[in-house]
Amino acid sequence: MSFPTGFLWGGAIAANQCEGAYLEDGKGLSIQDVMPKGVVGPVTEEPTPDNLKLIGIDFYHRYREDIKLFAEMGFKVLRLSIAWSRIFPKGDEEVPNEAGLIFYDKVFDTCLSYGIEPLVTLSHYETPLYLAKQYDGFLNRKVIDFFIRYCETVFHRYKNKVKYWITFNEINAVRHFPLMGAGIFTPKEKLRAQDIYQTAHHEFVASAMAVKFLHEIIPDAKMGCMVLGALNYPMTPHPQDMIAMMERDRDCMFFADVQARGYYPLYIKKLWEKEGVHVVMEPGDEEVLRNTVDFISFSYYMSKCTAADTSIYEKGKGNLTSGVRNPYLKESEWGWQIDPAGLRYTLNYFYDRYQKPLFVAENGLGAIDELMQLPDLTFTVLDDYRITYLRDHLSEVENAIEDGVDVMGYAAWGCIDLVSASTAQMKKRYGFIYVDRNEDGTGSLARYKKKSFDWYQQVIKTNGGSL
Ligand code: BG6
Repeated sequence: MSFPTGFLWGGAIAANQCEGAYLEDGKGLSIQDVMPKGVVGPVTEEPTPDNLKLIGIDFYHRYREDIKLFAEMGFKVLRLSIAWSRIFPKGDEEVPNEAGLIFYDKVFDTCLSYGIEPLVTLSHYETPLYLAKQYDGFLNRKVIDFFIRYCETVFHRYKNKVKYWITFNEINAVRHFPLMGAGIFTPKEKLRAQDIYQTAHHEFVASAMAVKFLHEIIPDAKMGCMVLGALNYPMTPHPQDMIAMMERDRDCMFFADVQARGYYPLYIKKLWEKEGVHVVMEPGDEEVLRNTVDFISFSYYMSKCTAADTSIYEKGKGNLTSGVRNPYLKESEWGWQIDPAGLRYTLNYFYDRYQKPLFVAENGLGAIDELMQLPDLTFTVLDDYRITYLRDHLSEVENAIEDGVDVMGYAAWGCIDLVSASTAQMKKRYGFIYVDRNEDGTGSLARYKKKSFDWYQQVIKTNGGSL
């Protein structure tokens, strides 16, 4: 058995995709409240009833029941995010919203009562809407100060409750979806490469300052960075395809390089020269960046293929970013290509590059589930396809550990069904727990255990032995 003692088995959720209660107890609007169709549809003026995230799965009122179910599966860790707009409703206030802080006190206390470590993402695609509209999110340097005020507030408040933190979810998403990734309200078409790199710089500085303050306020706490980890394979062994692969991988690794190593790599400075990008840095920024993260986390749903000339190949689909379709892989109902061995490759790749502990912050299969009634009149979903997916991926995590990679833990994405991020759908389900909510918003919100619930419970109980 390869999984180390103390391996952090668990699941992951994000506030905007599950909490609902979008205006309750003083919460301000977040960008997600005006993104009813995720990244595939327009932003609305005001929250609209077709936005499933406004109610989500009502985790805000049902967190006790849900965390109890996670505990029943044996979770050691729950990755969740704080909705920044619950703590600072507009984002630039000086005084936090006490009711928002109390909510997370209760959530973390519930986790701890079951021996579940909360792993908290500070910013998971849910910038306060006011900061997006008034400041253009992290494109504006002032937002660093607001973010740090928020970080210091929650570090002080939860210092006895939360030991594991992540700054920005999928920080490299800013390249593809600047609003979701960094709260930039200016439409993507109007942004230049300069704006994207400037925003990334502000996020790096914000993240590094958060690392510094975390270590001062909670000395034994650990901060991780988080990237969307979809590495590339060359479509052929043609040397130019290899060069294309190297360049595409840097699109992602650049973000982890800065946060894990504490300085800008030379390859990006050369690229900026070529592209005429001049990132404005203030005195002291380079020193701040040296506050590197303690661990590296990433989401893994797929690998990608690339080539020097991608136009001659069929395009693949993916979570926020995609490449060329890999002819050797099967795909999910949403066209995401399934590649368990790619997870072993990714873990080895990251570890070779940084030699820092790794955490698989997201992995899972989004699928259409069918709720059915069993002879004993209970309801379930026979999700063998999900079990197969997760078993195959976890077996590759085990192989990576055998390869010598230091893996701290694994969080199955959407461990309870929630609203999807890219397409804002309810029918795209990832959970071990089914939530009765339909695409049109109807449903009782009741929870039902799927077949994968018992399976994961067994995996955790045996520390991976039953895989
Ligand atoms: C990641 C995000 O990109 O992928 C999650 O961090 C998201 O928020 C997950 O839910 C799966 O994507 P989707 O679009 O299927 O929800």
